[in-house]
Amino acid sequence: MEISKRAQGIAPSLTLEITAKAKAMKAAGKDVVSFGAGEPDFNTPDYIVEAAKEALAKGVTRYTAASGTPEVKKAVCEALKADGMSYEPNQIVVSNGAKHCLTNAFLCTVNEGDEVIIPAPFWLTYPELVKLAGGIPVILKAKKENGYKITVEDLKNTITPKTKAILLCNPCNPSGIVYSKEEIFEFAAFLEDKDIYIISDEIYNKLSYDTEVVSISTYSEKIKEKTIVINGVSKSYAMTGWRIGWSASNPKLAKAMGSLQSHCTSNPNSIAQYATVAAYTKPEGKEFIDSLYGVFKERRDLMVDVLGKMGAEIIKPQGAFYVMVDVSRYFGKKFNGEHIDSAHKIAMLLIDNYDMAVIPCESFGADNFIRLSYAISKEDIVKGLDRLDDFFNKIA
Ligand SMILES: Cc1ncc(COP(=O)(O)O)c(C=O)c1O
Repeated sequence: MEISKRAQGIAPSLTLEITAKAKAMKAAGKDVVSFGAGEPDFNTPDYIVEAAKEALAKGVTRYTAASGTPEVKKAVCEALKADGMSYEPNQIVVSNGAKHCLTNAFLCTVNEGDEVIIPAPFWLTYPELVKLAGGIPVILKAKKENGYKITVEDLKNTITPKTKAILLCNPCNPSGIVYSKEEIFEFAAFLEDKDIYIISDEIYNKLSYDTEVVSISTYSEKIKEKTIVINGVSKSYAMTGWRIGWSASNPKLAKAMGSLQSHCTSNPNSIAQYATVAAYTKPEGKEFIDSLYGVFKERRDLMVDVLGKMGAEIIKPQGAFYVMVDVSRYFGKKFNGEHIDSAHKIAMLLIDNYDMAVIPCESFGADNFIRLSYAISKEDIVKGLDRLDDFFNKIA
C-alpha cells in the first residue's frame, strides 16, 4: 500500500541528519559546537514558569475555546497595539506554535494549483506547507546585488494571474536580513490593489538590531484586510517547547482558521495559554526581551567581526539569530582528499572532522550557503569559528 501523494510530496529535512548526529556525539561526551540551533539558548523566564504552575494549581486543565482563550486573545491584542497594530479578539487565532498558524493560513487561503510566492533564502517549512495545501510554491530568489532582499520589480516579474499569496518573513530566517519600513511599505503600495494575500511571518520581530521592524499590516486598511500576521512566544519569550503562536487577520479568515483548527487539533495547551497571558502582560516581560535582545546583538556583532577577519563571505545579518556564509568558493576543491561538491558535503565534513554542526542551506533555497545560528554562548562561538577557520584553511 502506498502512502498518499500529499505525504510523498513533502521533502525530508536535510538538516535533521546533521543535528541528530551532533546530539548523539554530545551525548557520547564529545566537545561538539553546534551552530544548528533554531531556538534561543535561554530558559523560559521564571515569571512565566510560575504562571504555568499557578494554572495547574487552579485546575486550568480542560479544553478551552478552540481558537484560544479570551484572555490570551486580549493579551495578544494589547501586545499588537504596543507594536502599532490594531486588532480585535475575534481576529486572533491562537495555535500550537507559529508553524501551526502558517499551516492554518495556507490551508485557508490556497486552492489547488494556486501559486504562492516565497522569497529565497526561505525557512524550509514554507514550500512544504504550500504543497500540503495543494498550492505551487514559486521561489523568488533574492539577488546578491540587492543585499539578498527582493524588490518590487522582482515581485512584478513573478506575479501571475494564479498568484494567491506572498510570504514575507521579516526579520528573515535563515538570512537575518531585515526589510526597513520604507521597503516594506513599497511592497504594500504595490500589493494594495492586487487580489493577493500577504502572509507576514513576524516571529523574529523583537530581534532586529539595526532597523526598526514595521509590520506590513500597518500600511493601510486595505493591506491589513489581506494580511495574515503570524507571531508567537517561541522566540521572543524563549518558549519554543510550549507551542503557542497566533495569527491576526480579517475576522472572516480568522473564523475559517479557527474552524479548521477546531477539527484538527482543538485548542492549544491550556496551561501554555495561561502562561502566555503572563508572558505578555507582566512587567518582567519587557526586561526579559531587552536582555535577550542585548545578548543576541552582542553575539551578532561578534560573529560578523570574526567571520569578517576570516575573510568569509557572509550575508550581513540585521535580525533573528542566524548568519549565512557563502561556501561556494570551496566547491570543486578537496579536504583530506575528499571532494567538496555542496554545502551539505561541507556540513558533513565539519561534523565528522571538527565536531561542529552547521546547517547546509540547500533546503532553504540557497545552495551555496551554510547557516550558523548564534543561539550559543560567546565562548562556543569563538571556539566554533576557530574550527571553521582551520577547516577553510585546509581546503585545497
Ligand atoms: C521563520 C520562522 N517562522 C516560524 C517558526 C515556527 O515557530 P514556532 O516554534 O512558534 O512554531 C520558526 C521556527 O523556527 C521560524 O524560524
